[in-house]
Amino acid sequence: MKQHTLFRRDSMSDDTLFSPFHLKNYELKNRIGVAPMTRMSSVKDSIPRQDVFDFLVRRARNGAAIVYTEAIVTDYECSQGYPGQARVLNEKQINAWKPVVEAIRAEGAVAIMQMFHCGRMAWPEVNPAGRVIAPSPVSPRQVNPLTNEPYPVPEEMDLLEIEQVIEGFVETAKGGIAAGFDGIEVHGAHGYLISQFLSSYSNQRTDAFGGTAENRCRFAHEVIQAVRSVVPGDRLLTFRISNWGIADMDVSLFGNKEEYQKIISLLSKEPLDVLSVSTYRYAEKAFGTDRNMAQITREATSLPLMICGGIHDRASADDALKDADIVLSAKSILLNPEWIEDVRAGKSLPLYKAEDANIAYTETPLP
Ligand SMILES: Cc1cc2nc3c(=O)[nH]c(=O)nc-3n(C[C@H](O)[C@H](O)[C@H](O)COP(=O)(O)O)c2cc1C
Repeated sequence: MKQHTLFRRDSMSDDTLFSPFHLKNYELKNRIGVAPMTRMSSVKDSIPRQDVFDFLVRRARNGAAIVYTEAIVTDYECSQGYPGQARVLNEKQINAWKPVVEAIRAEGAVAIMQMFHCGRMAWPEVNPAGRVIAPSPVSPRQVNPLTNEPYPVPEEMDLLEIEQVIEGFVETAKGGIAAGFDGIEVHGAHGYLISQFLSSYSNQRTDAFGGTAENRCRFAHEVIQAVRSVVPGDRLLTFRISNWGIADMDVSLFGNKEEYQKIISLLSKEPLDVLSVSTYRYAEKAFGTDRNMAQITREATSLPLMICGGIHDRASADDALKDADIVLSAKSILLNPEWIEDVRAGKSLPLYKAEDANIAYTETPLP
């Protein structure tokens, strides 16, 4: 039976953060996970650098209950958005991840592979097919910060391309399972392909994949169903969602609370084990209401929830956990190898800015 909390845990005991959480058939040792972080280190064979692998294993050793991989791109066509992104498709790539997954699991953490397709955020120069595809021929308003050039206007995906892209998710999920991952995450957040289908900001289709919330959810539905069929029932399938995208960050991807909750309730019918909600700041009120994203999500689903965004010390982690089951950290865990122990000790810890994390994309090995 799924464990979830329907109401705010105002009476939450002080050590909930460090108490175990039962997730499907996994017993998490605490409620803290390493959020997915792209490192752009896979310059050869779409395989990350050894120090990036070592970083993930060390975060498991340092106490994380869950370790997410960076976003793995799903095919060799046009899914890649940044240089040096990883793939888990061929034997060499799968074999490269096997010892990493084993080591993460040996530290008592759950290893989950995130996978994504960039859609209109793709950068043709780094994609073997040199194309940009998306639900509709609409590009982001802002320029690509990596090139200072406008994002190309994408080609609208036809039904054959939709099937082919889904196949990329399936093949990558199979690769992740062959590598031994405990779970697979479908990245439906941050304005990448699945998020582009979910949001009418980027989806202007008039066929079965656009228009109503049900239609905009159809692509996510088909990806999830196809991926679930290759992810064994005892492994986790998680889905990440956000109301913001990497490009045109100020845009609310869902028009209002009701529209967002409709999408959440549709996703809740899918064979998912967790919904992971990504925010800039977990406590920020959303959709002009007095509720934050975790609270608004919780109202619409009984799936276990992960929350992320500006959780940087004991007080913020405890507070975020009142409305979610698991907290994820990116920047704090990236920059401070002792973060989990420092949180446990209640140390005063900084709230990092996005620029502080730029070291993630350099060749400097992180402690
Ligand atoms: C270096 C870096 C790389 C990131 N890459 C990904 C990614 O591959 N997939 C993803 O879903 N989010 C990615 N994110 C977003 C984080 O997972 C997280 O949602 C965001 O940083 C907010 O959490 P924080 O305040 O704890 O950093 C990345 C963040 C950072 C700092």
